[in-house]
Order: sequence, then C-alpha cells, then structure tokens
Amino acid sequence: MIPFLQLVSLFLTTMRILSGIQPSGTLHLGNYFGMMKPAIEWQDRGEALYFIADLHALTTVQDAAELRSNVRDVAVDFLACGLDPAKACFFQQSQVPAITELAWILSTLTPMGLLERCHSYKDKLAKGLAPTHGLFAYPVLMAADILIYDSDVVPVGKDQKQHIEVARDLVLKFNDTFGDTLKLPEPSIPDHTAVVPGLDGEKMSKSYRNTIGMFEEEKSLRKKIMSLKTDSSPMEAPKPVENSTLLDLYKLVASPSDHSQMVAEFLAGGIGYGDFKKRLFGAIWEYFGPMRTRREEILAHPDLVDTVLREGREKANGIADGVMARVRTAVGL
Ligand code: TYM
Repeated sequence: MIPFLQLVSLFLTTMRILSGIQPSGTLHLGNYFGMMKPAIEWQDRGEALYFIADLHALTTVQDAAELRSNVRDVAVDFLACGLDPAKACFFQQSQVPAITELAWILSTLTPMGLLERCHSYKDKLAKGLAPTHGLFAYPVLMAADILIYDSDVVPVGKDQKQHIEVARDLVLKFNDTFGDTLKLPEPSIPDHTAVVPGLDGEKMSKSYRNTIGMFEEEKSLRKKIMSLKTDSSPMEAPKPVENSTLLDLYKLVASPSDHSQMVAEFLAGGIGYGDFKKRLFGAIWEYFGPMRTRREEILAHPDLVDTVLREGREKANGIADGVMARVRTAVGL
C-alpha cells in the first residue's frame, strides 16, 4: 500500500504508472483481479505504461511460434478487458532495447545474496524449472523495466512484492554509488484480492495448473468450476465461510448483496456445494460477458493490435532513451 501522504504528493505531480504481464499462457482470474483490473483503474490517474513481458517469458516459453501467439493473445485480452490505448501506452518489452542495457548495469551492482533470497526463484526451482541464469537474474530485468521509465507506482499482485523491493534496493544502491539518478518506485497491491485462489485453493498460477481463464469456453469453464475443491460438508449441514475458495472467488465476480446472500446460505445449511458452484459459474460467465464481446470485436480487426503496440513502442522508447542517457552519464559510459 502507498502511504497516504506520499499518495497526496504523487497526485500533485503527474504520476507515472508502470506494470507488466508475461505472455506465458492463457490469462486467468488471478492476473485479472491481481493486476489488470487495478491497472485499468490506474490509467485514469496518471501516465500509464503497460507492457507484455516477452523477455521474461523466455525463461519458461522456448518455442518461437508459441511465444508470438501468446504475445498476441495477451495484447487482445488486455485490450478487451479495458486497457485504453488513448490513455495508456501499451507495448512489448523486447521492443525497448534500453531495458536490457540498464539490466546489465544494474546487475553489476546487484549482490548475489539479494537474488538468492527471492522466493519466486526458489519456488520455480521447486516446480522443476531449470536453474538458469535468466531465471536467477529475473528480478534485475524487472527492476530495469520499472526504473527505465522513472516509474512512480507499480500495480502488481502480492507475489511480485519482493521483486519491487529488489528494484527499490537497487535504486538506493545505484544512487549511493553514482549520485541521484534513478527514481524510487512504490508498489500498489490490491488489499482484498492480494492473492486470488485457484481451483485447489492454492494461489492461482499457470504453473500450478489450477487456473480459471477469463475467456474460457463455456463448457470448459463449467467443468472447471464444478471440479473446484471444497470440504466434505453434507448438503444439509452449514458450510464453513472462512478460507472458502468458492466464496472468495464469488466475491470477486458477484454483487455485494449476492455475495452476502451466499454467505448467509453457507451458514444456514440446506444447500449443497453443487448448487453454489453453478451460481459461481453463472457469475463468472456474466462478469466477463461484455469483455468477451469486446474481444470478438478486436479479433475481427487484427491491425488494431499492431497499431497500438507500434505506437506504444515509440512512446516507451522516447521515455526510456531519456532515462538511459542519464544513467550512461552517471556511470561514465
Ligand atoms: P505475471 O505475468 O506472473 O503476472 C501478471 C500479474 O498478475 C498478478 N497475479 C496475481 N495476482 C493475484 N493473485 C494471483 N493468483 C495472481 N497471479 C498473477 C501478478 O502479481 C502480476 O502483477 N514478473 C511479472 C511481470 C513483470 C513486471 C515487470 C510486473 C515483468 N516486469 C515490471 C511489474 C513491473 C510477472 O511475472 O507477472
């Protein structure tokens, strides 16, 4: 959370808002409620820059056709969800060469111990990913993504908090070494949806295979929701409302009154989980309905995506080149 006074002072100047998303598979409810929805809200409050983190995705997607198609899908889906290119600059990470240059310079200042402490590296190894240098240095590239635009605010899900802390540490280290050059960014993490649970109750994540896609086909969505993990309370018994994945997901997509009613029905007993799951399916289907329609419209105009990403690339490079010139001068290149 951003401290109140800092938020007030940020509003007095034009805030620069920056976030990214990996094109490593179908986007899911965790991505939407953890980052995309807040990012779309932020685009009205300052100068927003949102990008598709294709360089980061190379740490897991190593098939050229698959990566290209994922990049396209993310672009279409983000636009369908409400990213407005008239308000936010939208581009592909790999189209901004200064990012990798800054990443190298930052890496010369990055203590190994800082990266060794990062949970996401350890989690990825635990999931069976190969321990490559790219995976290890992932937070340095992410710091470069943020710092190359003098970003003020970075809307992300809770799982990315530590990475923003790395970026902040690197700013302090850089400025201490070379003089005041880089801007200190602040994370913005939504309180209520810090971690969106997946079908098994764990964090919703592509690598846990527990995701619910935003634009899933009706049949597959229904099947997934009906398979959602619940406890074994019989139909007539009251159901626990604490740590209920079903209720947590329903809260994201239903109106507050429908959610309160479901909580009351959980507590009263007499209704089985099957019935609640059907309602959850209906609410998710309805919630993403207008975005599905918008997505069809975008898919019917393939040039739109190219135009948006090309214009975004030009603007992003304009800002990045200015910051990079400052960095080069500061370090003596
Ligand atoms: P990525 O692609 O894994 O996820 C994109 C965004 O979705 C959020 N998210 C979630 N939020 C809540 N609950 C969940 N279950 C959930 N799953 C995903 C993530 O927190 C993220 O905000 N490293 C980043 C991409 C990146 C980036 C950056 C972000 C690269 N450079 C610079 C911000 C700034 C990532 O892998 O996100």
